[in-house]
Amino acid sequence: MPTALIILAAGQGSRMNSDLPKVLHKIGGAPLLVHGMTAGASLQPERIIVVTGHGAEQVEAAAQAADADVICVRQTEQNGTAHAVAQARDALADFDGDALVLYGDTPFISPQTLEKMAQARTDGADVVVLGFEADDPGRYGRLIVKGNQLERIVEAKDASPKEMDVTLCNSGVKMADCATMFDLIAQIKNDNAAGEYYLTDIVGLARSKGLSVAVVTCPEAETLGINTRAELAAAEAAFQSRARAQALENGVTLAQPETTYFAYDTVIGRDATIGPNVVFGPGVTIESGADIRAFCHLEGCHVSRGAQVGPFARLRPGTELEETARVGNFVEIKNATLAEGAKVNHLSYIGDAHVGAAANIGAGTITCNYDGVMKHRTTIGARAFIGSDTLLVAPVSVGAEAMTGSGTVVTEDVPEGALAIGRARQVNKKGLARRLMEMLRATKKKQAEGE
Ligand code: UD1
Ligand code: CA
Repeated sequence: MPTALIILAAGQGSRMNSDLPKVLHKIGGAPLLVHGMTAGASLQPERIIVVTGHGAEQVEAAAQAADADVICVRQTEQNGTAHAVAQARDALADFDGDALVLYGDTPFISPQTLEKMAQARTDGADVVVLGFEADDPGRYGRLIVKGNQLERIVEAKDASPKEMDVTLCNSGVKMADCATMFDLIAQIKNDNAAGEYYLTDIVGLARSKGLSVAVVTCPEAETLGINTRAELAAAEAAFQSRARAQALENGVTLAQPETTYFAYDTVIGRDATIGPNVVFGPGVTIESGADIRAFCHLEGCHVSRGAQVGPFARLRPGTELEETARVGNFVEIKNATLAEGAKVNHLSYIGDAHVGAAANIGAGTITCNYDGVMKHRTTIGARAFIGSDTLLVAPVSVGAEAMTGSGTVVTEDVPEGALAIGRARQVNKKGLARRLMEMLRATKKKQAEGE
């Protein structure tokens, strides 16, 4: 059955106390909204609709950055979750299949849970609701079940004391045939405590029309909704501990797991070793057997088999380390490739560059890639030897097997096999150091006597 995903992301999230729309706050380096989109993607939806409202432009940009095919629709007034879903009607007018509704502030729904919901539809339920047993049901909507049917959902604000005792709660996730869902939504009224159009009312309406409504349950941890900064921090912690456990399970060595920080999309191969206090930003892939030592920060980069990074190294977006390349302490690499066996071991900045195979970059080397307006490239050939403290003023190239003298400022291309030296010639002044020191000491003594 083809599926359309509808993600509700129009709410303000006032309890976050933030200028940023709630769904753009991040966990594991990705906005909450993107976690929802990723979860929903497991059902391979034919269409993804994101309903935006508060901070619509920002939210739309983030949704489209994550998936260019997303359709964004606006809910100009936040009149409730049913009203929000109704905004997707036109975008799905010609759609024949199921609609799955997710909330943009609920990032941890698992693919297995969504598959269970799809299965319940296949097994004949007209409407499927995702519920969970809540430790503390608090403000959650309560699921009122009779026999094997969900009869209705009652919001905490509208519940009787007896209904408040129910612990089976509404996660918000719902699935039904698209036409059925919009048909039911059109009949929802706002005669409740909040004066809102509640999506939860589709359940009672469906039952009154003789349709069947099934509940699928999942662990409470999956339905965790984020409403405050404290909940965001707790969700980040939960995400990190799951990511660490998963990495260990996948055969990655983490020297001190509780100090490794993962992004939502970090990929690390079996038998890679990660030292203490390593942070992975988005877009990192580490191949099997790579060695990332303590206190490194990596984002948007790829580290190949047998490569070694750190301690104390920073790999920024566009860094590609080929097999057995080495990046040592206090080195920053950005938008640059180190070919097989190339080494940048100490105190260097390599940006917008290609470093050839087995080239050796001396301590303190800097690619001067930015002229204040534009960025320029540096190309270093295979087996080149760059002397310590070389400045490579880009655009510039150093040929294969060429060398640069220590302290050289390279402003012109260096041909293959040549040695470039660009620094003032050294002169030794005989005895001058000693005479200079004597003069200075005498001056100091005179000043002290004068006081
Ligand atoms: C909702 C459910 C409740 C459930 C809880 C689970 C309803 C009426 N209630 O309550 O049963 O237990 O989620 O977390 O559905 N949104 C819009 N437009 C609106 C209103 C909301 O886009 O007009 C979006 C919000 O941005 C949010 C989501 O819908 O992503 C849920 O809205 P929220 O106000 O947080 O609902 P709850 O009160 O938490
Ligand atoms: Ca909520």
